[in-house]
Amino acid sequence: MAQDSPTIGHKHQRLRRLRQSEALRAMVAEVELNKADLICPIFVSEINSQRTPIASLPGVERIPLAELADEAKRISALGLKSVLLFPVVDPAKKTNDGREAYNPNGLIQQAIACVRHAAPELVVMADVALDPFTTHGHDGILSSDGTILNDETVDALVKMSLTLASAGVHFVAPSDMMDGRVCAIRQALDFAKHEQVSLLAYSAKYASAFYGPFREALGSGARGLDKKTYQLNYTNIREALLEAEFDEAEGADMIMVKPGLCYLDILCRIRARTQKPLVMYHVSGEYAMLKAAVEKTWLDEKPAVLETLTSMKRAGADLIVTYYAQWAAKNLF
Ligand code: PBG
Repeated sequence: MAQDSPTIGHKHQRLRRLRQSEALRAMVAEVELNKADLICPIFVSEINSQRTPIASLPGVERIPLAELADEAKRISALGLKSVLLFPVVDPAKKTNDGREAYNPNGLIQQAIACVRHAAPELVVMADVALDPFTTHGHDGILSSDGTILNDETVDALVKMSLTLASAGVHFVAPSDMMDGRVCAIRQALDFAKHEQVSLLAYSAKYASAFYGPFREALGSGARGLDKKTYQLNYTNIREALLEAEFDEAEGADMIMVKPGLCYLDILCRIRARTQKPLVMYHVSGEYAMLKAAVEKTWLDEKPAVLETLTSMKRAGADLIVTYYAQWAAKNLF
């Protein structure tokens, strides 16, 4: 008989009751996006004398060093807490081994000092990898047989990290995916009395089709550049868990998953295994997809961006690197 059915009780359950009003929905919201969650990437350029748009990243510009102080102040005034710096390097300075990366007076080192001075309240992060500085656009040193040399690259990343620390960076963020780099960088920083400099590890960074606009912004290599011998294969989950586990054990203060939307499952699983803060990188191609659809009036920008970024929080991200940071600070809160 119907009354005896074990499903009968569900008929008294009306989950829609708690969805009735804006106020109720806000009261039972399980996650909330905040300005402090957003990390704002900045492309600092030594090849542009003025702020220069990036075609595939509408709304994002290459910022000359002379404009960086103003940019940092503007970002801070919007209520954002942190920036992640990337250098757009003069092609004449690029080499096979990317040695410009550890020039103590290089662009990125100057940029760090500039932001620290202009907006002392901001948390300053800098990417650690060789791709902005190599002629071939790879994140590591390319040997004559076409392989990317792991340990030689790690040595260069250590040198780079030390110059970033001396320039005043708060976080070094290795994005290269060489083995053992977190341990090597942590040890070298501590030995040099930079024990207060934190480490944000790009732990689960996948070889992705969604980095194209970023590479255009940096001028770092051809579109189809193949980084599959060091970045993760998108078929894999367990390997990402190992990367995160190793990076945490090696001393990472925060763990990053990259890209974002196609990798929410990865972030969610890492969330279950670590107590460290987790960061998701909403990458250039994901930003470009949204912007392109909005330009065509196929999507409504505010709700689409809010839903996208909130989904990353729901998956377990504490922080999100996004090219939408400034726009979101102005439009979503
Ligand atoms: C390179 C680096 C990349 C990004 C951040 N650091 C590109 C790559 O690995 O080729 C991509 C970011 C983005 O697409 O927004 N070390």
